[in-house]
Amino acid sequence: MKIICTNDYDKMSERAAEIVLKAIAKKKCLLGLATGSTPVGMYERLTRLYREGRADFRHVQSVNLDEYISLPPSHEQSYRYFMQSHLFDHINIDPKNTHLPSGTASPEAECRRYEDLLKSLGRIDLQVLGLGHNGHIGFNEPGEIFVKETHIVDLTESTILANARFFSRPEEVPRRAITMGIRSIMQARTVLVLVSGRGKAEIVKRAFTGDVTPRVPASVLQLHPNVILIGDKEALSEL
Ligand code: GLP
Repeated sequence: MKIICTNDYDKMSERAAEIVLKAIAKKKCLLGLATGSTPVGMYERLTRLYREGRADFRHVQSVNLDEYISLPPSHEQSYRYFMQSHLFDHINIDPKNTHLPSGTASPEAECRRYEDLLKSLGRIDLQVLGLGHNGHIGFNEPGEIFVKETHIVDLTESTILANARFFSRPEEVPRRAITMGIRSIMQARTVLVLVSGRGKAEIVKRAFTGDVTPRVPASVLQLHPNVILIGDKEALSEL
C-alpha cells in the first residue's frame, strides 16, 4: 500500500485529482466513484481541470458504489443528484456512460441488473473510496461476512446518524441502500482511498493495521495489491 500524507484537505483533494487525471488520460477508462463529503474537493478540482482544458472525460465510463433505496434522482440527497451536481453536469462525460444503482427500481432486480452491468464493463481501472466511521466502504457495512456481489443493505444506526447531517430531519435518512459488493472493489486495478480529519484517524488505524475482518469492511483492502491511501495528517495521525 502506498500512503500519501498531505498537510490538509485541499492538498489531499489535489493529489487525488492528479491520480484520477492520470487514469483518465488512457484511451479507455472505467472509473469507480464515491460520494460522501470527503471526495467533494477532488470533484471540484477535476471540474476545474476540465474547464482549463486539462481533463477530458470523453472516453470515461463511471460506476458508482451505491445509492439509497427509495430516493429518486431528483432528490437532493440521492447519490445520483450528488454526482450530477458535483461532477457530471460540469464535465464532458457522456451521460450514458455514468452508472449508479437506481434507488427507485425494484431493489432485488436492481441488484441483479447492476451486478450484470459491472460484469459486462469489466475490471474497474481506478476505484475511489471514502471510509465510513465504522469502516464501511460504499455501503458495505460491518457484518459476519464480506458480501461479494451488489446487494441490499440495512444501514447501521451509526451510518444513519452520520448521514443525518445531510437531511433536514434524521427520520428522512433512508434505512436501506444498494451497494456494490466487495468483489468489484477488490478486482479494481487500483483503489484510491481518501480520508480527512481527526475523526477518521481511529478507523484508519483499525482498517489498515488491524485484523482483516468483515467487522471492519475496509480492512479487506490490506489484501489488495494496489491501494493508494491519501489522507491529511489528522486522518493519518494514528498510523
Ligand atoms: C457514506 C457513503 C460512503 C462514504 C461514507 C463516508 O455512507 N456511502 O461511500 O465513504 O459515507 O462519508 P464522508 O466522506 O462524508 O465521511
